[in-house]
Amino acid sequence: MFISFEGIDGSGKTTQARLLAEALRSRGHTVVEVREPGGTHLGEQVRSLLLDSSAAIDPRAELLLFSAARAQLVVEVIQPALDRGATVIADRFFDSSTAYQGAGRDLDEAWMPRLHAFATAGLSPDQTYLIDLDLDTATTRRGTSGEDRMEASGTAFFNRVISAYRELAASSPDRIVVVDGRRTIEDQHLQILSDVLSHTNSEGS
Ligand code: ADP
Ligand code: TYD
Repeated sequence: MFISFEGIDGSGKTTQARLLAEALRSRGHTVVEVREPGGTHLGEQVRSLLLDSSAAIDPRAELLLFSAARAQLVVEVIQPALDRGATVIADRFFDSSTAYQGAGRDLDEAWMPRLHAFATAGLSPDQTYLIDLDLDTATTRRGTSGEDRMEASGTAFFNRVISAYRELAASSPDRIVVVDGRRTIEDQHLQILSDVLSHTNSEGS
């Protein structure tokens, strides 16, 4: 099973991805955790380029760099893990590009789903958990550590990202589950875990 977490920076994705991984491991599942961009030698280098605040990056170049990192991660890590029968938990996947580059950077092109299908060789998460949180709360949670290049994109940018995520969830209700990010860490975890278990049980894995 391939699970992804989505949401704006500071929404709580990493916290929930880790808790889910621990809970599944304690139930005997083999779990592989990945983060985007990153997870491969190429991906980590692309990550440094993309998050480096001093770099000027054109929105199209930005989209292609995120897609390139994703392509490598799928081939090198995600698909082999799925082939071995592992559960893969991804901290972001292609919905991040739709929300951040599509809506955030105004690259809202009809071809975006085809680009994702090309980059991932057709692989899509089975389940996606969108941690939905307002920008003020997410910014407070992120604390005072310095902003990276993406985080410095401004309030209007992030509000477009939040709206795009909600629209994506509404258009893919079978895949994307919206989790209220204002609830406690434990409450969210229990909602996500019970949803994942209902799917793994029905798959028999
Ligand atoms: P993301 O991966 O989306 O950037 P993190 O999981 O790193 O977010 O969480 C950002 C911060 O918010 C962390 O300090 C984390 O402990 C805290 N946090 C996460 N979820 C909650 C929650 N439900 N309530 C309060 N604080 C939270
Ligand atoms: P990261 O620190 O991993 O995310 P977070 O702050 O949510 O824990 O930083 C990744 C940044 O890259 C984040 O700002 C979202 C952005 N991003 C995109 O703009 N497009 C993408 O396709 C992906 C995967 C990430």
